[in-house]
Amino acid sequence: MNELLRKIQSRDARTGVVGLGYVGLPLAVEFARAGFRTVGIDLDRRKVDEINAGHSYIPDVPTADVATLRHAGRLEATTDFSIIRELDTVNICVPTPLRKTKDPDMSYVLSAAEQIAKYLHPGLLIVLESTTYPGTTAELLQPMFESTGLVAGRDFFLAFSPERVDPSNEHYNTRNTPKVVGGTTPACMEVAAALYGAAVETIVPVSSTRVAEMVKLLENTFRAVNIGLVNELALMCDRMGIDVWEVVNAARTKPFGFMPFYPGPGLGGHCIPIDPFYLSWKAKEAGFEARFIELAGHVNSGMPHYVADKVGDALNTQRKAVNGSSVLILGISYKKDIDDIRESPALDVMHVLQERGARVAYHDPHAPVLHARDWPGKTDMASVELTRERLAEYDCVVVLTNHRVFDYEMIVESARLIVDTRNALGADAGDHVFRLGAPPRVRSAARQEQTA
Ligand SMILES: NC(=O)c1ccc[n+]([C@@H]2O[C@H](COP(=O)([O-])OP(=O)(O)OC[C@H]3O[C@@H](n4cnc5c(N)ncnc54)[C@H](O)[C@@H]3O)[C@@H](O)[C@H]2O)c1
Repeated sequence: MNELLRKIQSRDARTGVVGLGYVGLPLAVEFARAGFRTVGIDLDRRKVDEINAGHSYIPDVPTADVATLRHAGRLEATTDFSIIRELDTVNICVPTPLRKTKDPDMSYVLSAAEQIAKYLHPGLLIVLESTTYPGTTAELLQPMFESTGLVAGRDFFLAFSPERVDPSNEHYNTRNTPKVVGGTTPACMEVAAALYGAAVETIVPVSSTRVAEMVKLLENTFRAVNIGLVNELALMCDRMGIDVWEVVNAARTKPFGFMPFYPGPGLGGHCIPIDPFYLSWKAKEAGFEARFIELAGHVNSGMPHYVADKVGDALNTQRKAVNGSSVLILGISYKKDIDDIRESPALDVMHVLQERGARVAYHDPHAPVLHARDWPGKTDMASVELTRERLAEYDCVVVLTNHRVFDYEMIVESARLIVDTRNALGADAGDHVFRLGAPPRVRSAARQEQTA
């Protein structure tokens, strides 16, 4: 252990990161920036080639940073796991998706761990960062690595440290977001904390890998449940003729005991819609039913249908049906100002509208193309240009992601009918704007006629 601690201290340790995606690349860059010779390992040849060419493909990581670290000889990438023989530390940052049945899909973690086990050597520190159920490190990884004959805490070191990346966050990044770390043994904890201490400002040690795994699931379940609560409140407000946005914005003035969450078209991304089900799956094994998680999942997954209903209601005021209407979707990534469309509720809204007979197009400068394989509509699509003329052509325009680059003034002025699911346009944008969770400003054309 002392030898590894010395190498970390002197920056002679060679660090490795397996999985160079939204989480792994920023981490590899941070280790390299801290002075370690870092190697990224990924199965995706294109990502490896990009890094070796000094390019970044992750918006939060500037290409200039990758280029500088490449030039300094501190960052490289490979598809060849045998490099692990030469490494002192390896962080695993591979995907942890759900299967269709909402059970954890551990195949990526298992396959990465199998490769690491092949090249495991005395003195190596392995840290799992992928979000997963409590018990993964102790029940799945430790026995795999110990089947080599080496023992955790004595011959090699094993820890779990959840990643907390928040894409597009301008304030918090890998370096200044506190890092929770749990070790398999006290020695594992000590070397893992030393490694992160070199690259991250604040380390939060916890007593075990299980606690560290659970911390991450609490954080994401907290978000999923509160978003579920506010989404249900939006449905309630819609029925009761109350503006949910006004309610949340007034409630957030309470200086203590309240944290604002906002409604929207549903959950998206690689974390919030998925991670809580890792917990409920594991809880079931212990005979425990995680009711909040299931309920929040139920409310949140119903939101795309509610948005489609809202589009139908809006079209109805103009005596039009969804079937045969042209609908332009604004924004398909799961949150504003990012390019990530994984699990994006926009894709479900588009699909539901298509199923109801609408002709759907989209505009998103962050996602210029949408491949058939990436959404339930299963057709290739491309972002259409956004002009005043084009906006005016559609029967309805739906704001699903409130990107900052959108010219909202032009959208309000040019579109005939708008459904705004993010309160991007505010309460006073006009009678042709229908907001999620808020009463319409006008009576429908049919009712106006009836009462005339
Ligand atoms: N994206 C986020 O905002 C975020 C935030 C916190 C935690 N997480 C968690 O971090 C983990 C990684 O997420 P991500 O968003 O970086 O995923 P990602 O899909 O962006 O990147 C994963 C990378 O791993 C590579 N990979 C897959 N299997 C591999 C294998 N066996 N060996 C080597 N490389 C392999 C893929 O090619 C890909 O480049 C997940 O568990 C996720 O839940 C993600």
